Amino acid sequence: MLIRILPPHALRESEVTPESIYLNRRRFLGGLGAGAAALALPLAAGAAEAPGAALAPLKVGTRREQAGGEKVSDFDTVSTYNNFYEFGTDKDDPARNAHTLHTRPWTVVVDGECEAPGRVDIDTLLAGGLEERIYRHRCVEAWSIVVPWVGLPLGGFLKRYKPTSNARYVAFETLYDPKQMPDTRYGVLDWPYLEGLRIDEAMHPLTMLTVGMYGKVLPNQNGAPLRLTVPWKYGFKSIKSIVRIRFVATQPPTTWNRMAAREYGFYSNVNPHVDHPRWSQAKERRLGELFKRDTLMFNGYPEVASLYGGMDLKKNY
Ligand code: MTE
Repeated sequence: MLIRILPPHALRESEVTPESIYLNRRRFLGGLGAGAAALALPLAAGAAEAPGAALAPLKVGTRREQAGGEKVSDFDTVSTYNNFYEFGTDKDDPARNAHTLHTRPWTVVVDGECEAPGRVDIDTLLAGGLEERIYRHRCVEAWSIVVPWVGLPLGGFLKRYKPTSNARYVAFETLYDPKQMPDTRYGVLDWPYLEGLRIDEAMHPLTMLTVGMYGKVLPNQNGAPLRLTVPWKYGFKSIKSIVRIRFVATQPPTTWNRMAAREYGFYSNVNPHVDHPRWSQAKERRLGELFKRDTLMFNGYPEVASLYGGMDLKKNY
């Protein structure tokens, strides 16, 4: 994703090397000397010792397997290979740095074009009915994972605020606090991180407001205490650590679209037939696997195709 600092991702070791080899190599390098160890150990130590042990378990009702029976990715991988630029631009930065994020108290404001604007406390959300959905999650950088997310359908949540007929889109905003998010002091992206969905995409039963994974609350690096999960879209639509949700009449700005409109469209549906200007979207590598696999249209969720009937997906990428 990074466009200003490191243009071709293809050149990054983590992108060209299978994940297991990459992680093992880092651990090996960590053993070579004190300096290297100091750099590599936070990831290796955090990952090797009881990953996620400190995270609170969640009460989960319904469980749905919606990844075609595919093997779920390791918690260790999913929680140490992240994009969360507020905590750094390397994949292992968020796991190392996001402990500075305070996820309590945390309220989310819901306002804009709706009859019942309000705010909700994260603990009220956690006490409501939560479901587990196992989804594929694919990044535009061509890596993918399979994750048991825990959360609630976004549509049901949004309806509580009674959107009006003017609400054609939904805008999402991440917390912006340089004290808690050290890398927002740099202009890597425009802060706060913003995302948006068309209202029918937001209301689609697959779209989730996610509060946990693997039966526990989200690790900070994965977007605690709540994030979006839209399984047929590239990962960058899955905005993390949300503080505001707004119903709006016109298409809202989104962070990556503002940074590079030609590379990151508003829709950003997973589409193997529309390449990113700098790299192909036809294949992907599931983290932890050696060989690439074909990327599926809408990431293997064909039930969303009707949302885009009559649209040219090459133009509306
Ligand atoms: N949300 C915020 N606030 N900041 C970010 O940098 N990165 C996005 C998305 N949400 C990002 C964000 C990108 S590029 C991806 S691929 C996914 O988060 C990664 O989610 P994961 O780390 O849980 O896999």
